[in-house]
Amino acid sequence: MDVTLREVRDNDLAVFYAQMNDPEGMRMAAFTAKDPSDRAWFDTHWARIRHDPGVVVRTVVGRNGKVVGHVAVFGPPEEREVTYWIGREYWGCGTATAALRELLGVVPDRPLHARAAADNDGSIRVLEKCGFVVTRNERGFANARGEEIDEVVLTLSD
Ligand SMILES: CC(C)(COP(=O)(O)OP(=O)(O)OC[C@H]1O[C@@H](n2cnc3c(N)ncnc32)[C@H](O)[C@@H]1OP(=O)(O)O)[C@@H](O)C(=O)NCCC(=O)NCCS
Repeated sequence: MDVTLREVRDNDLAVFYAQMNDPEGMRMAAFTAKDPSDRAWFDTHWARIRHDPGVVVRTVVGRNGKVVGHVAVFGPPEEREVTYWIGREYWGCGTATAALRELLGVVPDRPLHARAAADNDGSIRVLEKCGFVVTRNERGFANARGEEIDEVVLTLSD
C-alpha cells in the first residue's frame, strides 16, 4: 500500500479516536491508555503530544487521501521509541510497514526502540521488516487485557 505522512490535522483526531477504540486493535496493542474511550483525556493527550517538540507524530494517509492511521516517535534521546496504529480496514496490505519505513526516513534518531505485546505478531513482524531486532523481554501491565503480560523490546541500531 502506498502511503504518505503529513502533520496531524484537527479533523484526523476523530478517526484516531475511533481506531484506538476498536476492540480488536486494543486487544492486539494491549498496552493502551487506561480508558481509551475517555474523550476528554484523549483530546488533552493529543493536544500535548502535538505541541511537544520531543514528539514526532504524523498522520498516515492512503493513496485515496483517507486517514489510515498514525505513527510517532517519542521519548528522551537515549530511549526514543516508535509507536503506530493503523485502522482495521487497512490491515494486511503492508500499510504499517510502509508507514514505519517513511517515518524512519524522516527521523534520523538512532538507536530507536519499540515495545509490543509478545503475542502481537503483526507488530513484531512490521518492526523486524524495518530492521528492528528483539533485544529484551519484559513483563508489564496491559490495560486492554486487565493483567500483566509478556512484552518484547525491539531496537533499531542504525
Ligand atoms: C500491528 C499493525 C500495526 C499491523 O499493521 P498492518 O498494516 O496490517 O501490517 P503490514 O500489512 O505492514 O504487515 C506486515 C507483516 O506483518 C504480518 N502481520 C500483520 N498482522 C498480522 C497478524 N495479526 N498476525 C500475524 N502476522 C501479521 C503481515 O503478514 C506482514 O508480514 P509478511 O510481509 O511477512 O507477510 C496493525 O494491526 C495495528 O495497528 N494494530 C493495532 C495497534 C497496534 O497493535 N499497534 C502496535 C502497538 S506495538
